[in-house]
Amino acid sequence: PAKFVILLCIAYLLGSVSFAVLLSRLGRLPDPRYSGSGNPGASNMLRLGHRQLALATLVGDWSKGAAAVWIAARVGLSPPQQGWVALAAIIGHILPIFHQFRGGKGVATAGGALMLLSWPATLIAAVLWLAVFLIKRIASLASLAACAGLLPWFAWRHPQLLLPILLMVSLILLRHRLNIGRLLSGTENDFRR
Ligand code: G3P
Repeated sequence: PAKFVILLCIAYLLGSVSFAVLLSRLGRLPDPRYSGSGNPGASNMLRLGHRQLALATLVGDWSKGAAAVWIAARVGLSPPQQGWVALAAIIGHILPIFHQFRGGKGVATAGGALMLLSWPATLIAAVLWLAVFLIKRIASLASLAACAGLLPWFAWRHPQLLLPILLMVSLILLRHRLNIGRLLSGTENDFRR
């Protein structure tokens, strides 16, 4: 159990590193938490016009989720324990200790963490994300569709991971509550030009 607790802490700390905030700081750009949609994530970096930094944010946030689960697997934690470690990384991204607990929505970090838990799940989620984004040009709607695709997959293939995944999806949905309100009222930010 000590190993498990240590890994949960490491995952939380890794998740707490916000690439959108750090890269903006490095580039002397406005803090994404206070511009655009106010979300420190890849979509908002793109919205703010920083294409390369958006890609770097996506890769960074994705990698920290993947790194947390990779370390957990390397030290021999069981798959369900790895699921809880993934959740800890996402909590770190959403409530980061290094950034006044003002974090992002957890989508990219979940993508990275899930890739190591079940790569087909990430593939399904990524395909859903891209398909919805290409059709509707709305990042939040794409993220919600990707989340919806995850639950049946884990329920069917990895029921032992379902509880942490369910909590992960619930947290991501909670973080999208303002997006959901805007989607329902037809006022969500989109990427149409
Ligand atoms: O991954 C975040 C995305 O789902 C929504 O971000 O900036 O459009 O609120 P944003």
